[in-house]
Amino acid sequence: MCGITGYVGYEEAKEILLKGLEKLEYRGYDSAGIAMMDETEVQVFKEKGRIARLREVVDEHVKAHVGIGHTRWATHGVPSRSNAHPHQSASGRFTLVHNGVIENYTLLQQKYLQDVLFQSDTDSEVVVQLIEKFADEGMDAEEAIRKTLPLLEGSYAIAIIDMENAGTIFVAKNKSPLLVGVGDGFNVVASDAMAMIQVTDMYIELMDQEMVILKKDEVTIKNLAGEIVNREPYKAEIDASDIEKGTYPHYMLKEIDEQPLVMRKIIQAYQNEEGELEIAEDIIEAVKESDRIYIVACGTSYHAGLVGKQFIEKLAGIPVEVHVASEFSYNMPLLSEKPFFIFISQSGETADSRGVLVQVKELDHKALTITNVPGSTLSREADFTMLLHAGPEIAVASTKAYTAQIAVLAILANVVAQSRGWNPGFDLIHELGIIANAMETLCDSKEEFEKIASEFLPFTRNCFFIGRSLDYFVCLEGALKLKEISYIQAEGFAGGELKHGTIALIEDGTPVIALATQENVNWSIRGNVKEVGARGANPCIISMAGLETDEDRFVLPAVHELLTPLISVVPLQLIAYYASLHRGCDVDKPRNLAKSVTVE
Ligand code: M6R
Repeated sequence: MCGITGYVGYEEAKEILLKGLEKLEYRGYDSAGIAMMDETEVQVFKEKGRIARLREVVDEHVKAHVGIGHTRWATHGVPSRSNAHPHQSASGRFTLVHNGVIENYTLLQQKYLQDVLFQSDTDSEVVVQLIEKFADEGMDAEEAIRKTLPLLEGSYAIAIIDMENAGTIFVAKNKSPLLVGVGDGFNVVASDAMAMIQVTDMYIELMDQEMVILKKDEVTIKNLAGEIVNREPYKAEIDASDIEKGTYPHYMLKEIDEQPLVMRKIIQAYQNEEGELEIAEDIIEAVKESDRIYIVACGTSYHAGLVGKQFIEKLAGIPVEVHVASEFSYNMPLLSEKPFFIFISQSGETADSRGVLVQVKELDHKALTITNVPGSTLSREADFTMLLHAGPEIAVASTKAYTAQIAVLAILANVVAQSRGWNPGFDLIHELGIIANAMETLCDSKEEFEKIASEFLPFTRNCFFIGRSLDYFVCLEGALKLKEISYIQAEGFAGGELKHGTIALIEDGTPVIALATQENVNWSIRGNVKEVGARGANPCIISMAGLETDEDRFVLPAVHELLTPLISVVPLQLIAYYASLHRGCDVDKPRNLAKSVTVE
């Protein structure tokens, strides 16, 4: 989704801003721009399309040391040059980049800015025009910004430069993520530490409704009342090499291959010196005190939640409901007497999930966030955090975060069960080790999945995934993976539901990928495969060693039955990857999608 970079210092800003934006490309965007300011002028360059196109239009002779940059993912107004950021005030004095959505922008326009000729269709432009209006009334830049911010309803992360404050970037945030990076003789601003990790690893978190006055050797944080806030920087634990593709053609392939390593890192992170799984005592207590757990998440994280429900109910004996965040927020179910909330989010910044967390905190309920990003909004605002330890996930299609989420949920369920004196019946550390090895075997079998993709998927318009029990949840994830990166219409179905309607969609040659990893439903899912086969479908069965038959296309290595989603998803990820490749799609940056969905 939209990204922000900003630099004030002694080096030329241009390359730092552009490189920073390139690091944010993975989040998804449709246009990009930068503004650079020296003592006499501000120059704005923006383009629809990729940053490579922006590079072509940026004047190489500009040598400014202050600048702001933006990647835009359209919400208000089509992707176009005029709607791309930065936006300038009517006189050109103020220049702004904005992430988020200003919900009351039309009202603000009508109330305060009727005489202003707007240059774009965006909600963002209203902010820069308002600042100029208040400055024209006699306020200095800081006062004008402080007067504007409380008028804005919705979410914002903004960076502003002002011709009358040549060495300064003004920064503010509410709900949308934004960080200030601290350097030696320079400072930066970024919506994600990854954008600027090449120049500094020291960051200051900003809280909602704070603003920052950023100069090359000074960072002043203030609240909206103008009072100074002191906050120490922290070291961002991101290894710059983690965000490089290395020899891989795509981040997605790299991240699929990293899954065995992530499993081992998770075992290490949650293991104590006695070699036992351990999580914070207060998390265990909060979970045990609750009479029902509500898992809230979106997309892939929601699919991981569906698997996690099985672990928590089966191992820890607590009933669990799993909800899509965007539905939960406007249609909250009747809550139990002692609810406990688990938010699952790779990025920790998803606006739909955050919206629910805010509601939940208003009701004074306890919440745990399971996330890959320490210090992310969902992590900060929940009572507890469990980290995924998956390393940065760059590809829009989530892979290693999904398996990490499932592993962490298994650990949570296992530890709670043990703390109740219940024996889960297996040694999870040992089983996760077996999973890591099995994942490696699967990653070494890529050519098999490439063959399946090229045989079943290059020309099809749709594809179905069927499974029962845990396999059904993995099918939902397999279908999401395929649709988001190959644009094939793909759906996951519960095998038993086919005959209640869906089977009408089966035509000659329709690919149907079936998972068969669960013993108690092995024969019933195979029955469903026969049903679709009899109607012309082209079935591809992926089964588990011990349950296989001669008709199976691939047999997964045997792992503990409850943990099969951790490995049965890997072939589906790889099949989606190769299908996308064969169809000539942009694997890492699929159309219309953003990595981190920071608007509701
Ligand atoms: O960062 P989050 O886990 O909160 O993101 C949730 C979804 O937007 C995300 O999982 C999305 O569905 C992925 N593109 C799926 O691959």
